[in-house]
Amino acid sequence: MDKRLKRIINKIKDESLRKKVADFLENPTIKIEDKTFSGLPLDVSPAGLSRHHSYAGGFIEHVVASTEIALTLCKIVKKIYGGKVNQDYVVAGILLHDIFKPLTYVERENGSYAMSSLGERLDHLTLAVSELIRRGFPLEVVHIVGAHHGYQAGPIGPKTIEALICHIADLADSSLNGEVLRAARYLITKIVGEEPPAQLTAKEAFEIVYAKSVEGEDGVRKVFEKIKRKKPQSRV
Ligand SMILES: [Fe+2]
Ligand SMILES: [Fe+2]
Repeated sequence: MDKRLKRIINKIKDESLRKKVADFLENPTIKIEDKTFSGLPLDVSPAGLSRHHSYAGGFIEHVVASTEIALTLCKIVKKIYGGKVNQDYVVAGILLHDIFKPLTYVERENGSYAMSSLGERLDHLTLAVSELIRRGFPLEVVHIVGAHHGYQAGPIGPKTIEALICHIADLADSSLNGEVLRAARYLITKIVGEEPPAQLTAKEAFEIVYAKSVEGEDGVRKVFEKIKRKKPQSRV
């Protein structure tokens, strides 16, 4: 398993919950009728088709970044507001919130991603909630996963502090990543006049946006040329 995920799992103090989370991340599959579905491996999967983390490795980056935000929010609740929060539930919930996204994607030949046939029939949230219940996870963790899209975009809104923290952390990281990818793609199209790479990474996108603010349009052209030289032709 990815070292970064392992380090986060170890933050869960409750042994039985920690083991359940580790088992699920080691084996993120679901059985429907007599078919076991296993998607893209977690370490190469994106965490979105186009809006955010839409490149190889995006899934882990999203989970790690959301966890950092969620842990900071836990600290704020406790240290600044004097509130109580169950950090084990927060860590378990944020680690597992998108666990079945990789199951809903397939990779095209040009390196972009499309919805899998399972993903066209069930969303990652419904799939994860069913499997969490089947695996005997605490209701509080199932709720966090079920509510992580918030009132507007999910079946239920966050009703606990832990679920609210995970929803905000997920939203903050998806927005940060998604906005920068969108801006970089726009700058490439507008300034360079070329199609942005299908798998433009967040690292590259941050570099493009930064170059624009420091060196202007020339900076964008320079960084884009560097990215083009680095990427295999089929992925540009
Ligand atoms: Fe999600
Ligand atoms: Fe997410």
